[in-house]
Amino acid sequence: MKVSVIGQGYVGLTLAIGAAEAGHKVIGVDLNTELVSSLMECKTDIPGVSEVLLSKLTQSGHYLPTTDFTKISNSEIVVIAVPTPLSKNRGPDLSFLESASVSIAEVMTDKALIINESTSFPGTLRNVIKPNIEKISTLEFEYASAPERIDPANNEWNLKNTPRIIGGLTEKATRLASEFYSSFCAHVHTVSKPEIAEAAKLFENTFRQINIALANEFSLIASKLGFSTNEAILAAATKPFGFMPFYPSIGVGGHCIPVDPSYLSYAANQVGMRANFIELANETNLSMARHVVEKISNSVEKPLSNLKIQLIGISYKIDVADLRESPALILISELRSKGAIVKWHDPLVNKWNEEISSEIDPNVDLGLIVTPHKIIDLNVWKRSTIKVLDLSANSTDYGWPKFL
Ligand SMILES: NC(=O)c1ccc[n+]([C@@H]2O[C@H](COP(=O)([O-])OP(=O)(O)OC[C@H]3O[C@@H](n4cnc5c(N)ncnc54)[C@H](O)[C@@H]3O)[C@@H](O)[C@H]2O)c1
Repeated sequence: MKVSVIGQGYVGLTLAIGAAEAGHKVIGVDLNTELVSSLMECKTDIPGVSEVLLSKLTQSGHYLPTTDFTKISNSEIVVIAVPTPLSKNRGPDLSFLESASVSIAEVMTDKALIINESTSFPGTLRNVIKPNIEKISTLEFEYASAPERIDPANNEWNLKNTPRIIGGLTEKATRLASEFYSSFCAHVHTVSKPEIAEAAKLFENTFRQINIALANEFSLIASKLGFSTNEAILAAATKPFGFMPFYPSIGVGGHCIPVDPSYLSYAANQVGMRANFIELANETNLSMARHVVEKISNSVEKPLSNLKIQLIGISYKIDVADLRESPALILISELRSKGAIVKWHDPLVNKWNEEISSEIDPNVDLGLIVTPHKIIDLNVWKRSTIKVLDLSANSTDYGWPKFL
């Protein structure tokens, strides 16, 4: 089939390559000219997308990256995979979804199945995407929601083996979308309407957000009571049923866990309900950087002002370059607000605002391991005498936070 994927980021590119590999002819559209130019040169840093495969699929004509929307006009399937971030007041920002819908409506010449993979609150497909398209186009499209669940850099679960939830506005849309996803995904789970698919995606990530917040709160209690959080969590995890371990960290980051629950909270507010758990979990997770600064300040002899500190890894997740909602950035700003001189090392990020990643420095007063990507060699610090605090969520130590 001729498939177009709008947005060529983490979600869109992964899908485009998966569908192209399954034999579809895929057009990958993105507004970002720099991104499209590197895709044309078969370059990408999205984990799980192989440049060799990208090059093979481009050469065979199965994948075409472009900024030109008119190329999608006669597609049989159009998939939307654009950002759905938080607005300034931490509510839903659907501007990318709306503009993508308008662009699709303006260029389509034949009817097609429109699928939304972007995460949003229940009712988005029916009440936002469809009306935006129908304002402009008189074509009778089919619509389905198939939220992406991808976990970048996860070597076990990927596009092919993670079950896909599908909910169409009509039975035909559900059937067509199921046929499409079944061509490259081992399991599809159809639901009665798109709102169920949209809600399921939000609930999955809200479950994680709340459990992480609980682990974070547990770590604050543990710190006051004087026991090791991680040792207690690992002990609890020996229970073979009814428990799933989550670990404390300096907060949550990325485009999902800190964002999606707020979409659910917004939807609840719209019907006059406050999502108490979500709001409390947000507050707890966002406050962790402040608690860590307090902990640091109590653990070092000198005052924080003028203390030279270096962070290792500032993206939100190990082996991923994504800075969205990264709690490391909150930590940097908290430390700087106390007068500390802060620099950072992250070879995956390299540049953030106007700042450049600095070499690992053995002469700082304090080193903070935040997101230890596998390619980072910490030997410079291990050989030095500086104080290093391991704040990484995946830290295997039994006390948190811990000085190495
Ligand atoms: N990153 C993840 O791990 C992940 C996992 C599951 C779901 N999601 C959801 O998937 C959606 C996309 O997330 P992502 O991480 O791929 O974002 P991303 O920022 O990596 O990619 C989105 C791309 O869309 C492009 N874009 C924006 N507006 C456009 C438009 N109108 N037309 C064409 N291109 C446009 C941007 O330039 C960008 O390259 C979001 O709703 C997100 O919540 C993300």
